[in-house]
Amino acid sequence: MRAVSCGAAVLLLLQSASAAFPGDLFSPLIAQKVLHTYQSLPSLNQYPHVTDSTQGKWKYMPSDWWTAGFFPATLYLMNTRKTQCGASNEQAMADWLNLGRSASSALLGVTDAGDVGHDVGFVSFAFSEELKVNPQNHTAIDAVNRFATMLAARFDPAVGCTRSWNPKPNQDSTTFEVIMDNMMNLELLFHSADLTGDNHLREIAMSHADKTMENHIRPDGSSFHVVVYNAVTGAVIRKRTAQGYSDSSTWARGQAWGIYGFSNMYRLTQKPAYLDTARKMANWFIDHLPSDGIVPWDFNAPVPTYADTSAAMVTVNGLLMLADVETDPVQKGRWIDTSFSLMNKTTTFAWRPDWESLLSNGTANVPLGSFNTGIVYGDHYFIRATNEMFRMGLTPCPGAPLAAAQTKPSSQTTNVQPNTNTKTSSARRIQPFRLW
Ligand SMILES: *[C@@H]1O[C@H](CO)[C@@H](O)[C@H](O)[C@H]1NC(C)=O
Ligand SMILES: *[C@@H]1O[C@H](CO)[C@@H](O)[C@H](O)[C@H]1NC(C)=O
Ligand SMILES: *[C@@H]1O[C@H](CO)[C@@H](O)[C@H](O)[C@H]1NC(C)=O
Repeated sequence: MRAVSCGAAVLLLLQSASAAFPGDLFSPLIAQKVLHTYQSLPSLNQYPHVTDSTQGKWKYMPSDWWTAGFFPATLYLMNTRKTQCGASNEQAMADWLNLGRSASSALLGVTDAGDVGHDVGFVSFAFSEELKVNPQNHTAIDAVNRFATMLAARFDPAVGCTRSWNPKPNQDSTTFEVIMDNMMNLELLFHSADLTGDNHLREIAMSHADKTMENHIRPDGSSFHVVVYNAVTGAVIRKRTAQGYSDSSTWARGQAWGIYGFSNMYRLTQKPAYLDTARKMANWFIDHLPSDGIVPWDFNAPVPTYADTSAAMVTVNGLLMLADVETDPVQKGRWIDTSFSLMNKTTTFAWRPDWESLLSNGTANVPLGSFNTGIVYGDHYFIRATNEMFRMGLTPCPGAPLAAAQTKPSSQTTNVQPNTNTKTSSARRIQPFRLW
């Protein structure tokens, strides 16, 4: 480890600016904790999911659990960061690429016989990351295509959506439930369509997004968590919540998935309605933040209530993506400013050096009694946000100069990303040291 030299570099960086930003976005602790988590895996078929709420120790789930893909994909993000920040940096302490490959291998065994359902989208992240590094890797190509086929098989033309949850034993077989989270899984369909030329997959994804726009989003830009359709007639039966405070409330992580999902759909299709929807959802989110700036698990839960740092981190990534595709410079400024302030606020109260996770105060599921924990996807989106900030030329990492508002390097680009960075990122550059 190079804790001394790197610590000194971090300190220098902190001193050179306001030092108001407490959680170091490129802290050496990030690499140390991610490596520690890898080395502590009980087996290569056990994946960190949430921590306990007092010691911050990981609890693990098997490969067909919906969050299994996040940690392997995080290892790939560390590899990206190593490329971004340079090999003299603390981030270079491990061969992240090989760790990512090794941690993702058990995910290759995931089939639709298990519990993963529509969440194959999340589970596929590591293989999409692998293809940014090695576009010729046939194992990863096959995995992406197979997972996309599994997701497409959940599409019902009468409803126009892919099914999120299978009917439970006590539900009628025509019960067809679609959750906002599913917006995150559509990118998989585009990736596979690019690999195979099967345009039908793109049509499925757009149909799903169109229906979600129509039925999940309220006129003011807030959102329902669950829309229940009739699988045969396609009629909307009910709008409700599963993880939120009430049927009429707005569950923060659902709103966050929506901001990210519609920004991503716009990036992938250039359809203006998706940009409008992403903006509407982002504005609603920002306008309803409490005065302390802490993202609650549900915007309508009576205060005081639990925070959800994972919702905050997904939102930061959604806002950065929205900023990346935004055509209006004033709105673009709002997305970037809010992504910075959410990052700042979250690390101020939830950066937990003594925990195995990077962040605390994540809320996985209040109805199931899971809150105030570390969460694997909260950490994943924390690391991803800083990588994106660097890629967009918004912040430097220690040991590396500020990126000149990079487009993704060619080795990082798959055809899924008709990227518009070059057009937009020079429009508004944030001062390099603003974060600190
Ligand atoms: C190809 O990808 C798979 C799955 O991600 C990985 O296990 C394997 O190590 C990769 N192989 C090579 C040669 O990169
Ligand atoms: C964050 O979690 C800690 C427990 O780990 C708790 O004491 C604290 O009140 C939480 N903060 C917020 C803002 O919810
Ligand atoms: C971070 O938050 C602190 C305290 O609220 C504030 O003083 C500081 O200006 C913020 N920094 C940035 C970069 O937003």
